[in-house]
Amino acid sequence: MVTISLRAALCLVFFFSTHTASGSYPHAQNVTWVSNNFKTRLTWGPKPSADYSYTVEFSVRSGNKQRSPHCIQSSGTVCDLSRSLTDIRACYTAEVLSQPPQGDTSDLIEFPYTSAPLFCPYNDTDIDKPEFKLQVSEDLKKTTLYVSDPLTALFKDGRQLNIRDVFAEELQYKVTYRRNKSTGKKLYFSKSNVIELSGLDPGESYCFNIQAFLPSRGAKQLGELSHTQCSNDHTSSIFKVYSVGVIAAAIFLILMVIGLIVAVTVVCCKRRKKALKKGKEAVPLREV
Ligand SMILES: *[C@@H]1O[C@H](CO)[C@@H](O)[C@H](O)[C@H]1NC(C)=O
Ligand SMILES: *[C@@H]1O[C@H](CO)[C@@H](O)[C@H](O)[C@H]1NC(C)=O
Repeated sequence: MVTISLRAALCLVFFFSTHTASGSYPHAQNVTWVSNNFKTRLTWGPKPSADYSYTVEFSVRSGNKQRSPHCIQSSGTVCDLSRSLTDIRACYTAEVLSQPPQGDTSDLIEFPYTSAPLFCPYNDTDIDKPEFKLQVSEDLKKTTLYVSDPLTALFKDGRQLNIRDVFAEELQYKVTYRRNKSTGKKLYFSKSNVIELSGLDPGESYCFNIQAFLPSRGAKQLGELSHTQCSNDHTSSIFKVYSVGVIAAAIFLILMVIGLIVAVTVVCCKRRKKALKKGKEAVPLREV
């Protein structure tokens, strides 16, 4: 009995010593890619205590592991890899390792780590909302939308690239529009940044939203939806501009003026007739 419990105790001690050595650094949790317009960060939790830190390793699928200098034995929970994922058409894997604090070393050969899902920038980065200008021709027959391509976090030869530079022919814009007064939506797809919409009812107010559309991408074909912009309402007839009261007053005034004119002419005519009669009566008298 005694020997057995001793053995068990020894076993326990052994178990704890090895377990605490490899388990002293907690695993990173919720390792997630957050990527907009090719600005790509790996995020995770929890915030580390003073006893450990995190190191990020990434690689092109089946390639060599690399590290970003800012994400080695760091106490942060985010790692900006925008500049590190140089081949945007490639797919990347990444791991967050739990390691000793900066400056400390450890005898461990393998650190606890958590893997991130596979990330392919070209297909997976979210596309931000575009800005656009709205112009209605003077004859009100043509509405034109001028879309600005959102900028990316990518640079080439010192120039910041926009999403048209990256996706070229594959980039389209999806316009969602409706009459301001109705909820029925219509769609229009454009390969150009200058989008002419004809066939809208002239003078009516329409409201527009635009978003990037990348049909070649699987799950993330649509970018973020832009702000809504509405064209002006030019159909305002006289009844819309002036209130009913004003119109009634105007009609009353017009009627009064007409009435006055009629009255004046009637009175005038009577006087003239009288005068003529008097004249006719008077003239023969004079002739006589
Ligand atoms: C991970 O995500 C879960 C669910 O969203 C959350 O409850 C948990 O607190 C997160 N853990 C860390 C360390 O952020
Ligand atoms: C469109 O309708 C909203 C309310 O539905 C209104 O506030 C807005 O002024 C309208 N825009 C135009 C240009 O008529």
